[in-house]
Amino acid sequence: MSHRLVSSARPADEGAAARILELVGPKLEATERLFQERLTSDVPFIARSGEYLVRGGGKRMRPALLLLSARMLGRDSEEEVTYAAVVEMIHTATLIHDDIIDHAELRRGRRTLHSVWGANLTVLLGDWLYTAAMKLALAHDNLRVIDLLCDATLGMTEGELLALERLGAVDLGRDEYLDILERKTARLFAAAAALPALMQPARHEAFEPLERYGRALGLCFQLVDDLLDYTASQDELGKPVLADLKEGKLTLPLLLALPRITPEERRKVAHVLEDRAFRRADPDELLEIVRREGTIEETSRLAEAYAAQAREALAAFPDGEARSALELAPDYVLHRRA
Ligand code: IPE
Ligand code: IPE
Ligand code: MG
Ligand code: MG
Repeated sequence: MSHRLVSSARPADEGAAARILELVGPKLEATERLFQERLTSDVPFIARSGEYLVRGGGKRMRPALLLLSARMLGRDSEEEVTYAAVVEMIHTATLIHDDIIDHAELRRGRRTLHSVWGANLTVLLGDWLYTAAMKLALAHDNLRVIDLLCDATLGMTEGELLALERLGAVDLGRDEYLDILERKTARLFAAAAALPALMQPARHEAFEPLERYGRALGLCFQLVDDLLDYTASQDELGKPVLADLKEGKLTLPLLLALPRITPEERRKVAHVLEDRAFRRADPDELLEIVRREGTIEETSRLAEAYAAQAREALAAFPDGEARSALELAPDYVLHRRA
């Protein structure tokens, strides 16, 4: 199977990814078609960059999550496809803006939009996409859903703002770091998982456990993203490694190591964050620090704890294929290589 959800899994989890696709494959394809349709316009730049985005693909994790959750609640209509496209549009807009902020040149193995077309056009495309997403979400006239999506999007922007304000800081605290992750990544995962509970007829009792599931899975997902920056290769990721440090971004593996290392080593970390380059410190030295201090493993253990929390949240639901697939998603997220 060629879907990126499968190719990014480690061999042992390919089965899990394939199971997810089996259950919601046709709906994911419908989501893809709608996503493509909505990324067109008579404004040439939108049409051109929209096509570039569609061809670039992506794992489509958030739509898959939303569709599985909808299926677990017994939904089967066009409505969940609409919302799956909406969450992917919001995610895409966020990535476009995030890559400008992070000065990232590569995403999904291809040049980022702003590195091809410049930041001016690209910022506007991000704005256009957010609004197009909300307009599409309005198609089913459900204001509770719109409110949920607005809150998730506001949270993501707040997360990016908080992170940006602390860029380059060596004194970022663990709780502060986790708060940023919760906003910038977990809120959209939580919204994607819980949204089907708000579709009509509403399933109020399902909302809270689904939100808890999505939030824990999202935290796990971003912790793994931050780990992969240390442990994966550019070929696997489709984006450069050790990029966070070069962007001035302190993430958990090094954050946890900081109080335990020598003042000289701490100065080196501060230099990389300040220079946004490995001018006064060697990347191998920093890799050696996180290996020696065991903070890669500590970060993995935290990601595993969130994966377990996600699984536990599903206990509220009766057994079934969709619940099983949602139970497998944390394993896929924990072991993904891209
Ligand atoms: C990247 O998200 C941004 C993070 C939250 C780490 P994904 O890893 O889901 O990106 P695509 O859509 O699959 O490229
Ligand atoms: C995630 O942050 C982006 C958002 C969720 C907004 P990152 O900056 O770590 O994502 P990547 O590494 O660029 O994909
Ligand atoms: Mg980034
Ligand atoms: Mg990252």
